[in-house]
Amino acid sequence: MGGRVLVTGGAGYIGSHAANALIDRGEDVTVIDRLSTGFEWLVPPAADLVVADIGDTEKLSALLNGGRFDAIMHFAGSIVVPESVADPLSYYENNTVKSRGLIECAVRAGIPHFVFSSTAAVYGSVGAEPVAEDAPLRPESPYGSSKLMTEIMLADAAKADPIRYGVLRYFNVAGADPKGRTGQSAKGATHLIKVAAEAACGKRDGIEIFGDDYPTADGTCVRDYIHVTDLVAAHLLTLDRLREGGESLTANLGYGHGFSVREVLDTVDRVAGNPIQRSMGPRRPGDAASIVADPSKARQELNWQPAHDDLTGIVEDALRWERHLQSRNRDEV
Ligand code: UFG
Repeated sequence: MGGRVLVTGGAGYIGSHAANALIDRGEDVTVIDRLSTGFEWLVPPAADLVVADIGDTEKLSALLNGGRFDAIMHFAGSIVVPESVADPLSYYENNTVKSRGLIECAVRAGIPHFVFSSTAAVYGSVGAEPVAEDAPLRPESPYGSSKLMTEIMLADAAKADPIRYGVLRYFNVAGADPKGRTGQSAKGATHLIKVAAEAACGKRDGIEIFGDDYPTADGTCVRDYIHVTDLVAAHLLTLDRLREGGESLTANLGYGHGFSVREVLDTVDRVAGNPIQRSMGPRRPGDAASIVADPSKARQELNWQPAHDDLTGIVEDALRWERHLQSRNRDEV
């Protein structure tokens, strides 16, 4: 049941996993990526790569008008929350303005299906209870706002034009392709499991825990870590739903339970077989004590059945990828 899918940001972490998964099931994939944070060597060889900025709407229109695509998976965007606080307008440009242009090009080219990479950051500060999709949307960073604005544009466009969408709100994505083809590859990574994997491989001296005075069981923040393979599987199910004529959907992607920073680091130590150096630091501005998804909607509406809900497995895959990067002397990441 192969279709033809344009993957924006397909040279990045999640986009490259999606490109592989689409190819694995026989779809034609074109990646568009400006390679600002992504890497050409993460794009699967079977995909066509167009090196361009999605903000180049002339190029984008030509691609979409001539490409016979039936779907777009939109991963391209900026993702660092504190950076968005320091430079909000570039986040609104890169995430909101360019998404607007992409949606417009899609509508004009008659592309019927659109899957969008959104985030739990659209909810803002949440309590310890799992958060469902109907929770108030009060983003606390320009990053979260920039993504929420795209959600709103999609919903409005879908009311006026023949396009249907899936908005998928990610919690904490981690791990790497179990087949070892791709993984998180970022300069100056900030995400916990990535940073810990780098420390375990000797690329960093250690790791700082950002605060241990939160109202959680061990005082460190709790997050819902989801394996990137399960995350991507939900994208394919969303695409199937849209192709089968199903309604647009907005759904959380997380497992519904969380781990503290200490629990994550204990797991990394156990998997790596040697403890990484930990230091205790102050709270990082903007961190909520606990953020856990209520994933019932994805399970019910998409029949999503996660296969990697296992922190040890997530860490094993992340570490395997980190060692692979090291062995290939990828100095740029
Ligand atoms: N942490 C540390 N030390 C580090 C890195 C992280 O203690 O070196 C802690 C953080 O303080 C936080 C937890 O580990 O408590 C997870 O932090 P990450 O940076 O890995 O992830 P966040 O939960 O901050 O961010 C995630 C997504 C964002 C999204 C946000 C919304 O990565 O894209 O959730 O809630 F915006």
